[in-house]
Amino acid sequence: MLQAVLGIDIGTSGCKALLLGTHGTLIGSETATYDLAQPRPGWTEQDPALWIEGARASVGRLVSAHRDVEIVGIGLSGQMHGLTPLDENDRVLRPALLWNDQRNGPECAEMTERAGGEDALRGYTNNRMLIGYTGGKVAWMRNHEADLFGRMKHVLNPKDYLRLVLTGEKATEVSDASGTGLFDIRARTWSLPLMQRLDIDPDLFPACHESPEVTGRVSRSGGELFGLREGIPVVGGGGDSVIQTIGSGVIEPGDVQTTIGTAGIVASALDTPIDNPEGRLQVFCNVAPGKWHAMGVSLNAGFAMSWYQRVLRGVSGRDSWSYDDVVASAAESIAGSHGLVFLPYLNGERAPHSDPDARGAFVGLTGMHAAPEMSRAVMEGVTFALFDIFTVMQQAGIDARVVKASGGGARSALWRQMQADLFQCDVVTTEGAAEGAAFGAALVAGLGVGVFESAEQAASLCKPLTREAPDPADGRALRRSFEVYQALYPALCDNMHALAAAAAESRA
Ligand code: XUL
Repeated sequence: MLQAVLGIDIGTSGCKALLLGTHGTLIGSETATYDLAQPRPGWTEQDPALWIEGARASVGRLVSAHRDVEIVGIGLSGQMHGLTPLDENDRVLRPALLWNDQRNGPECAEMTERAGGEDALRGYTNNRMLIGYTGGKVAWMRNHEADLFGRMKHVLNPKDYLRLVLTGEKATEVSDASGTGLFDIRARTWSLPLMQRLDIDPDLFPACHESPEVTGRVSRSGGELFGLREGIPVVGGGGDSVIQTIGSGVIEPGDVQTTIGTAGIVASALDTPIDNPEGRLQVFCNVAPGKWHAMGVSLNAGFAMSWYQRVLRGVSGRDSWSYDDVVASAAESIAGSHGLVFLPYLNGERAPHSDPDARGAFVGLTGMHAAPEMSRAVMEGVTFALFDIFTVMQQAGIDARVVKASGGGARSALWRQMQADLFQCDVVTTEGAAEGAAFGAALVAGLGVGVFESAEQAASLCKPLTREAPDPADGRALRRSFEVYQALYPALCDNMHALAAAAAESRA
C-alpha cells in the first residue's frame, strides 16, 4: 500500500488538505472554501465550526479519491495570530478573532507600555506586539467582553483548534506561539515573566512543542468525523507564513522567500535569533528545530492587484479585466513605468511601516501616462513593498543568494522578472510551493514521523521549476524608482493620516 503524509491548512478563505507520498511525490490536494465575517470596519471574525467543516470536506474528498493510500502522519498549518476562545468544557465562546482584525491597536499600545516600552518588550519576545497578534486580542477581550473573558479558560490558534477536535489534545508549537507576542523566541518557550507583567494567565495557553514533535493521535471521535484511521500521529505543524517557507525549500540563510498572495511576505531562515531592528521584522521560531525565521508582511500585494482590476472593470465597463490582462497591459510599458510610482498601502500597512492609516497613491502622473504605465506601476509598487521589507532584513544582516517566489503572484513571469531585477539575484519557483502552507505541513509531518531524516532533506524535495535571472539595465531603472518610493512614505505620511481621519469622519 502506498504510504503518505497528510498536510491540512486552515487558511483565511478555505481549508486545503494535501497528500504527499513518503517518496516525495505529490498525490493530490483538495480545498473547501468558507467566508470571513466583518461585523464592523476593521473587524474580521470566523466561526471555528467553518474550519472544521472545511477540513471535513477537503480531507473527506481527498481520502475518498485515494483509498489505496495509507496515511502515516498528519501535519497542521493555519492562519496565524487568531484567537479561538474556549470555556472550561472546550466550547467555543464567540467567533474567532483573526490575524487581520485591526481592533486591538489600543490594547497593543497599553501592553507595550506595561511591559516597559518597545525596547523592554523586545527584551522578552524579540518582537513588537503588532496589531492583530493574539496577545493583544486577549487584552481586548478583557477590556471589552468582560463576561466572556471571565469564562475563557483556553486560547487556541486556528490550527490548534483543529488539533483539539482531531486528537482531543490542546497543544501548540513554537512558530504559532511566536505569533502570540507572548513567547520568548530565543528560549523557544512561553514568556512567563512577560505574562506576569501583563497580568495574563499563562494557563490560558496550551503546552508548546517543537513543530515536528508528535502532539497527539487521531482520536476515535476525530477519526469518525474526518474519515481518518484512529491512532495516526499528529505533529505540531506550524503557522502558515512560517511553514510555507520550508515548502518552498527555504531552510538555509541566503534563501529568501517572497510571497505575493493577498498579503505580501518576505521571509528568510536563520541559524540564530538575530536582534529585530526596531521591531520592524517578525522574528519567530522556525518549524525546523534549532532554526529561526525572519519575515515582514505587507498587507497590500495581491490585494492591490485585485483592487486595480476592480477599478479597471469599473472604468472600462468590461466585466473582465483578468490578472493576465493586467500583466499583458503592464508588459506594454517599461521598467520604471515612465516615471510613475504606485504606493500600495490600500489596507494601511504592517511592514516596514506599522501604520493602519497609511494610504495608497500614484505619484508622478502626467498626461502621457495610460493604462500600461498604471498597470506596470501597480506591479512594481507591490514589488517595491517586498523589497522595502528586504532592506530592513539587510540591515539585520540577512542576505539573498536566491529568491524563491510563491503565491498567486509567482504565476506571472513579468512579476518574477521584476523581483529578479530589483533584488539583483535569480528568482526561482519550486515544486510544491504553489500548494502553499499545506505542502509545508506535509513536509513537517514527514519529518516528525521519520519519513525524512532532517529538515534539510525535506526542503530538498522543493526542486526549482522556473528561473529568472536579473537584467542589470532594468535593475538600475527599478532601483531609481525604488529610491523615490522609499522617500515617499515619510514625506506623505502626515497627509495620509489627515486623509484617513477625514474619510473616517465623513463615514461617521
Ligand atoms: C503572518 C500573518 C499572515 C497570516 C495569514 O504574520 O499575519 O500571514 O498568518 O495567513
